Amino acid sequence: MKLLVCGGAGFIGSTFVRQRVEAGDEVVVLDKLTYAGRRENLQDVEHVFVHGAIEDPEAVAGAMAGVGAVVNFAAETHVDRSIAEPDAFVRTHAVGTFVLLEAARERGLRYLQVSTDEVYGSIEEGSFTEESPLRPSSPYSATKTGADLLVQSYAHTYDMPAVICRGSNNYGPRQYPEKLIPLIVLNAIHGDPLPVYGDGMQVRNWIHARDFSSAIAHVLQHGVPGEVYNAGGPDECPNIDVVRRVIELTGRDESLIEYVTDRPGHDRRYSLSSDKVRALGWEPQVRFDEGLAETVDWFRDNAWWWEPIRSGAYREYYARQYGRELSA
Ligand code: NAD
Ligand code: TYD
Repeated sequence: MKLLVCGGAGFIGSTFVRQRVEAGDEVVVLDKLTYAGRRENLQDVEHVFVHGAIEDPEAVAGAMAGVGAVVNFAAETHVDRSIAEPDAFVRTHAVGTFVLLEAARERGLRYLQVSTDEVYGSIEEGSFTEESPLRPSSPYSATKTGADLLVQSYAHTYDMPAVICRGSNNYGPRQYPEKLIPLIVLNAIHGDPLPVYGDGMQVRNWIHARDFSSAIAHVLQHGVPGEVYNAGGPDECPNIDVVRRVIELTGRDESLIEYVTDRPGHDRRYSLSSDKVRALGWEPQVRFDEGLAETVDWFRDNAWWWEPIRSGAYREYYARQYGRELSA
């Protein structure tokens, strides 16, 4: 199968591309290369690369030539950035998804939209199913929800073979260090403070990016058109415990922990039920303890990957967001 993977130069997209190429698929990647998209993420993987935006109909038409299916990872993905500057979130999620859907519909292509548990909002107890109401709370999750609704409308109205796969919080190699785990790992390695929002008791349902990628491939192949499938990880963990585990894995001590001002509108807990995708035959393979240790090792062994980030524009982002400089 020849696949078009939009946003394939990002963290999860590149993990998915790596897996599909190993499985024998041909892959075309369309990516705008925002701060989060990097050719380095795919430097060891055979693929055709098209530099362009999903909201650009010409770039999309060129990239879609000859493919059998489209998987859309392309997104602005950081909640804190969506609070500070929501514009790009609206453009990419609303206009970009629309342009992709139109082009895929015209060509009769199967389409998979990669989405997030954040569309359901926060849950105190129990887990969200695909039937749970959509109650997004940030500009990130609200615009992702809008994209999901547009995809569902195309499946319903035009009988388009489109499916949605919603993942819980991902972690693993090549995640951009604005997200909790890579930020904490790199700060711990450097002896920088570890910023914990609020009381640190927010809970996330962690899934390794390889497991989310295999769920997406599974839903692309076996999912029923028009349906949504949740793919949650096997473990949940409060943020402060994630930070403590990273401290142990890097041989640091708790004096590095720094409680900082909470994120506005911060969701307390995410949790997904994955029964529906499990019924299609998918199972996550990586437990959080094991995946976190592997991730810490990867960051320790791959300074070539993060050194240009930590010495570039990321430093300005970090100073703005956390009100202090990173060490060199
Ligand atoms: P990422 O930020 O690492 O990568 C996003 C990629 O999309 C980058 O390569 C970027 O250059 C590209 N991109 C952004 N805007 C684009 C545009 N307009 N046109 C073309 N390319 C564009 O993100 P990620 O963490 O790999 O997330 C990928 C997808 O998975 C997103 O749709 C996200 O909502 C979803 N998701 C992420 C998580 C998570 O924990 N990271 C969890 C569930 C779902
Ligand atoms: P993040 O990785 O941004 O993912 P999301 O907001 O999509 O869940 O954050 C994960 C959790 O960690 C979230 O509760 C916010 C918290 N967090 C911190 O406590 N400190 C940080 O520096 C960051 C980036 C996140």
